Amino acid sequence: MCGIIGYIGKKEVVPVLVEGLKKLEYRGYDSAGICTLSDNGLEIIKRKGKVSEIAEEVLSKKLRGNIGIAHTRWATHGTPNEINSHPHTCCNKNIAIVHNGIIENYSLLKEMLLSEGHKIISETDSEIIAHLVEKFYKNDIEEAVAKALKLIKGSFGLAVIHKAENKIVAARRDSPIVLGLGDEEMFIASDATALLSHTKKVIYLDDNEIALISKNSYSVKNLNLKPVSKKVHKTNLDVLQTEKGGFKHFLLKEIFEQPLAVKNAIKGRIKNNRVCLGFDTKQLNKLKRVIITACGTSWHSALIGKYLIESIAKIPVEVDYASEFRYRNPVLNKDDSVILISQSGETADTLAALREAKSKNARTIAIVNVLGSTIEREADSFIYLHAGPEISVASTKAFTSQILVLLLLALQLSQKKGQEINKKLIKELNKLPIKIEKVLNQKETISKIAKELHSYNNFLCLGRGINFPVALEGALKIKEISYIHAEGYPAAEMKHGPIALIDKNMPVIFIINKGKLFEKSLSNLQEIKSRGGKVIAITQVCENFQSLADKELNALEKLSDYVIKIPYASEELSPIINVIPLQLLAYYLADFRGLDIDKPRNLAKSVTVE
Ligand code: M6R
Repeated sequence: MCGIIGYIGKKEVVPVLVEGLKKLEYRGYDSAGICTLSDNGLEIIKRKGKVSEIAEEVLSKKLRGNIGIAHTRWATHGTPNEINSHPHTCCNKNIAIVHNGIIENYSLLKEMLLSEGHKIISETDSEIIAHLVEKFYKNDIEEAVAKALKLIKGSFGLAVIHKAENKIVAARRDSPIVLGLGDEEMFIASDATALLSHTKKVIYLDDNEIALISKNSYSVKNLNLKPVSKKVHKTNLDVLQTEKGGFKHFLLKEIFEQPLAVKNAIKGRIKNNRVCLGFDTKQLNKLKRVIITACGTSWHSALIGKYLIESIAKIPVEVDYASEFRYRNPVLNKDDSVILISQSGETADTLAALREAKSKNARTIAIVNVLGSTIEREADSFIYLHAGPEISVASTKAFTSQILVLLLLALQLSQKKGQEINKKLIKELNKLPIKIEKVLNQKETISKIAKELHSYNNFLCLGRGINFPVALEGALKIKEISYIHAEGYPAAEMKHGPIALIDKNMPVIFIINKGKLFEKSLSNLQEIKSRGGKVIAITQVCENFQSLADKELNALEKLSDYVIKIPYASEELSPIINVIPLQLLAYYLADFRGLDIDKPRNLAKSVTVE
């Protein structure tokens, strides 16, 4: 949830750390801090607020040095203020640490340290790490950290420096750490995207490993300080992918990247009308029961995945919130397959669900967007989204890529069962990026609607069948970036309660597609209209948008205050097409409200705490 970065090398350290923190800010932005080591010893600047606020001060105070560590925080223990901000130091101020994670036994450790005379000044769990390292320090920072970590229960991604040693020690347990290998310079970070402008050579630490970096060397050991051999990876990410590229916000950029993301998710995976996802397909042979588990937006794509796998491959699917999965002692055995969906591949709840599934011998398949992530590495096999880095906290392009990958999986499963492949659907898949472009071209219309509606405090999002999870996703997008209360509902459930909420102050967004449920949905819409509700309909029309004479469309237009017209897509692909107007609407609602869209309050991109 927090972002950490460390540098040792030939460059001035402050600009490197500030740039890295800006790249990591999506992980948390309650407070930020930097510690440098120079002839002046350890110097720290930290405070409540975003990285940009602290950057000005550190740069103007001209902190110097070629070694430093830095942190951007998403608060768990203790309010976001200067004292609780990282880096934290020990009593004699010789040691500084930055930490991402939660120390579960911190109360016990704190009591022990206080009884030994340590002075603990913050409310955080993290500060005790600095004091523990101090307790064990005997001129060897690596050894002291190893001893301290043996006492700690909980999770950590950690970086530590000592005033007297030109080194940085990093360690991980359940919170990611990568090492970046440069030319006469070494880095540590929570995420490889923070290092792309310096190096593409990275090493992913595994749990309970300690790394020691100096200007020209690195080593990785276990907690008993026995060397561990590590593979050096070359990341294929590009620094341009982590820039806004002329867009006002990352979110808008990522919404507009969806044609490309979808193209990349399909690329090389369909040959001669056959789907090949390129992962260990032996797993698919015995597949009788599938459980998909995920959180947030990824959970919404899981619900769509259930619909797709059941209707295309005729295999029963259950969907669970990862945060609930392991606590209900799920019935699993070796013939079950558990699919974990996670953009970041680091979500603590999803990781815990993966471990639960493995402990019960189920097969595990991860669908992730971040290569080298913990979920990818721990699952039996994985399918990569190829969506490119998603930086805005609210997920958009990962969602549409997840749906696409789940559709490909459903098709591949049906293929394995010897069922006839839906060639029409395969053909349509190739046209999907163009259709998405056409939806994106509706941005002016959607922005105008948002301008008129941005001061409303409540919204309802309705959809049916495969588009019910899209309604849930639309409501989540509106909630998290515009802070407007929004609920997603299956349209036909309205009459069982939520219709009581309808009045002129409740705009209702209705995903209404042509097809078997059109007439019924129109009646639901009529019920809303006759109670004074404002209706925004999202509907699919012929590709040339020339269907105004169409009887159904006329009926819809009469009942709606606004109609957003998007191209026709078959039912299986409709969630991808339908969600885009909702993403754009949420974006413009938030923009007209003047909010910090890429960094919504109280949130963080990668939720690595339970
Ligand atoms: O990285 P993950 O897909 O595992 O993240 C899951 C959720 O935390 C995430 O989708 C969250 O709900 C987003 N803020 C939604 O926009």
